[in-house]
Amino acid sequence: MKIIIAKDYEEMSKEAALLIAEEIRSKPNSVLGLATGSTPIGCYQELVRMYKEKGLDFSAVTSFNLDEYFGLPADHEQSYAYFMQKNLFTQINIDIKNTHIPNGVTKNVEEECQKYDSLIEEKGGIDLQLLGVGVNGHIGFNEPDEELKIGTHLVDLTENTIKANSRFFHSIEEVPKKAITMGLGPIMKAKKILLLASGKNKAEIIAKIVNGKCSTKVPASILQVHPQLTIIVDEEIGQHLKVNNVLDNCLL
Ligand code: F6R
Repeated sequence: MKIIIAKDYEEMSKEAALLIAEEIRSKPNSVLGLATGSTPIGCYQELVRMYKEKGLDFSAVTSFNLDEYFGLPADHEQSYAYFMQKNLFTQINIDIKNTHIPNGVTKNVEEECQKYDSLIEEKGGIDLQLLGVGVNGHIGFNEPDEELKIGTHLVDLTENTIKANSRFFHSIEEVPKKAITMGLGPIMKAKKILLLASGKNKAEIIAKIVNGKCSTKVPASILQVHPQLTIIVDEEIGQHLKVNNVLDNCLL
């Protein structure tokens, strides 16, 4: 595990974008696993800047998003499909046919999930998976539970997640109660994982992921065993990590 402690959100985002750009430059047809939420927005803005100013070329890139709200069509303003279009896809030269997000309004959930997993396999798996993390330790929408699922599946969002995500909706009642999420399989099989977190409300969960026990109650704690995991946090989080661990791993 490598931990990079960036000064703030902006620096975290720039560092993350640099690593993604490095991946794309070394393998132009990289398969990227992408996340939504507040965390990666700065990183996406930086990637857009690199595309516009430095010619970072996404034309051969394939992407798979982690999740989508169940019941929201792609043109719904709060859908993750809409988020990706707005924050990244329409601003770079990625071929939209190579971008993949679970269909939140599918009539056949099981088939949709199987197709999603098969397609990831067909493309050779994910080269670099970008992750945010919920304050409860979820990655994608793999929520804390007695067991964790390997494949893409329909999940009941926890109250905690519904509450956290209500900030994007007019009211908490509007937040979908379910989502389709990639399971832990494709995430853990990704050749590289890049986890981003900033702000003091994520300090406790990042400390658990870095220094704590591996538990299904903290789904992200499984990342500890990934051989190519990089975590980028800001100083608000970095100061709560155990010093030795940080010194061992700190790059900045
Ligand atoms: C989003 C996703 C979620 C978020 C997490 C953190 O695609 O998979 O796991 O990464 O809920 O969200 P933010 O970044 O909004 O704090």
